[in-house]
Amino acid sequence: MVRIAPSILAADFARLGAEIDSIREGKADWLHFDVMDGLFVPNLSIGLPVLESVRRYTDMFLDVHLMIREPGRYVERFCEAGADLVCIHAEADAEEGIRAALREIRRLGKKAGLALKPGTAWDAALPFIEDVDLILVMTVEPGFGGQSFMGDMLDKVRAIRGWIDERGLDCMLEVDGGVDADTAPRCIAAGANVLVAGSAVFNKPDRAAAVAAIRGA
Ligand code: DX5
Ligand code: ZN
Repeated sequence: MVRIAPSILAADFARLGAEIDSIREGKADWLHFDVMDGLFVPNLSIGLPVLESVRRYTDMFLDVHLMIREPGRYVERFCEAGADLVCIHAEADAEEGIRAALREIRRLGKKAGLALKPGTAWDAALPFIEDVDLILVMTVEPGFGGQSFMGDMLDKVRAIRGWIDERGLDCMLEVDGGVDADTAPRCIAAGANVLVAGSAVFNKPDRAAAVAAIRGA
């Protein structure tokens, strides 16, 4: 089963409730929520107050992608604010800080994810495999929506898929950045089973058609 997770970053924030309704009715599986701190990535986005409001509004699965430095400082608050999954970046802290943050997310009853920037080798995820429910392979440089898909990241997806399957691990594999109806089949063929898509969903008037096209239905 492949899950489609539209990224809220591409939504119209003045109409957020209606935007969420449109993807829910359009049969999206998750809502992807991008948090940026202006330090780990050169951009700012949304954070805790918006997540709290979204949580009150919808029971959709909230996939929170933290593009912030030293995420351990904030994972508890994002869990409390209503995240179902909190994904942190392998590059955002030293190994012990990342491990402690992943374990805290799970201790709080949420799913824990680990994201890899394009320049980070696939095996950077290896030391954390016991502590993650999801690995996110970035297929653009994090920080901005609407960028072009980096096809050379598919080797990384394939490597991680092989490693998960060889060991029979219960770990999802997500891709994020430049995913649309053309690039999604390549991601799925490489072994991804969660596809984030921002502009390819929210820039289309018919959200159901956009989600179906990405799913390949
Ligand atoms: C980028 C974010 C993505 C972004 C994807 O840093 O992590 O989730 O919103 O947007 P598109 O699908 O437009 O590349
Ligand atoms: Zn994201």
